Amino acid sequence: MKIGIIGLGFVGLSLTSVLSSKGYDVVGIDIDEGKCGKIAKGISPFYEPGLEKILKNGLKKKLKISNSFSLINNCDLIFVTVGTPQNLNGDIDLSIIKKAVSTIGTNLQNSKKSPIIFIKSTVVPGTMKKIILPILEKKSKKKAGKDFGLISNPEFLQESTAIKDTKFPHAVVLGGYSTKFMKKAKKFFEKLHPNVPIIITNHQTAEMIKYANNSFLATKISFINQLSNICQNIPGANIDDISKTIGLDPRIGKLFLNAGPGYGGSCLPKDMKALINFANISGIKPTLLNAVEEVNTNQLEQIILISKQRLGNLNSKRITVLGTAFKPNTDDIRDSIAIKLINKLLKRKAKIIIHDPRAIKNTKKIFGEKITYTKSIKNALSKSHCAIIMTQWKQYEKLNNKDFSYMSKKLVIDCRRMLLAKELDVDYFAIGLGKEKWNIL
Ligand code: UGA
Repeated sequence: MKIGIIGLGFVGLSLTSVLSSKGYDVVGIDIDEGKCGKIAKGISPFYEPGLEKILKNGLKKKLKISNSFSLINNCDLIFVTVGTPQNLNGDIDLSIIKKAVSTIGTNLQNSKKSPIIFIKSTVVPGTMKKIILPILEKKSKKKAGKDFGLISNPEFLQESTAIKDTKFPHAVVLGGYSTKFMKKAKKFFEKLHPNVPIIITNHQTAEMIKYANNSFLATKISFINQLSNICQNIPGANIDDISKTIGLDPRIGKLFLNAGPGYGGSCLPKDMKALINFANISGIKPTLLNAVEEVNTNQLEQIILISKQRLGNLNSKRITVLGTAFKPNTDDIRDSIAIKLINKLLKRKAKIIIHDPRAIKNTKKIFGEKITYTKSIKNALSKSHCAIIMTQWKQYEKLNNKDFSYMSKKLVIDCRRMLLAKELDVDYFAIGLGKEKWNIL
């Protein structure tokens, strides 16, 4: 059995690497020739723990990397994992996936195989039936369900744990018609992930499951962030003890209850916007989803407010941002809250120094010479008026009085409560911590 994977981003490259390392005959396809060249040498174009090791393993076996779509002609299973970013108005941008399925369709015309095409990319409900299926049938001059299979197969992996999540997903969703292709797909996944629940449903439900998943996660984060704001006005209250305790209730669950500066990344903000737009178009007022977004946007304002309260005018103040990646163990800064924060601080003419163990290169692509970058935490803090911990990198747990002693004014805003247990000789503010604990110099 030959497997083709189209689009070598986080999802596609993780799947390519995991399947090929298991011995499957895989071809990973991406239109970006430069990217393909790197991947073929075992180099990942982005940082993802464990990815390069497993990719190299696959390359030693049967894995091929190519920018030629014609190779899908020999494939029995084709996974589409291209991006579905957002337009300026927040709508989902389907141009990349439309192009990809159009090319697949054209190639399918000459294929002797009856492949199953799995769509892993996130698409709003109705996209498979109204857009993807018609494009494929028109371009291939073949019939879905008869000449080829088409299945919605949403992905739930998280960046920074992409390999583990690809190997051990919590569920497999297969959306589509009940055909011989669906039976074959079920068999494939039963073998690949024994004991993992397989949910077979229709296209539109599968599409909606993905949005339900991400919007629920965003809701949990905004919920805990709103509570953490309330806690800040209860002297001595600590949001982490609250999260830990409510998380013990199996009806609530402990994950995604870490209060912070808001959710970022390439998925939750985009999917929330797309779902809100979709609900509005469907005539349903998304009151709750709007509130989740509003809480998320306002969370950042708090940080600005605290820095202004403590430092006065931010013009020419040196502010150190610790962490620009949208979460630890990634170099991804897409829709990172830290990037939004830097933009706001720059508008107020603050001087920004950033440190991040992995994301400096990507951050430079956005800000160029407008801000200062350093690989040394000590240099980042030197002569600074304010340090803001944005990303929960392990390195920041070690920060101590000596590190802060080089600052001009020792205001520390800890968005992740990493230094809570330390006796610090600084003006310390932590998100989700009642004011009594503030250590005002
Ligand atoms: C998210 C989902 O978690 C995945 O299940 C999904 O497959 C993926 O989007 C996608 O649609 O492709 P990811 O974007 O990798 O995964 O990031 P998350 O781990 O969900 O984190 C998102 C943001 O929420 C980060 O900014 C993180 O710092 C924040 N977060 C997360 C919190 O502030 N608190 C938490 O408790 C958890």
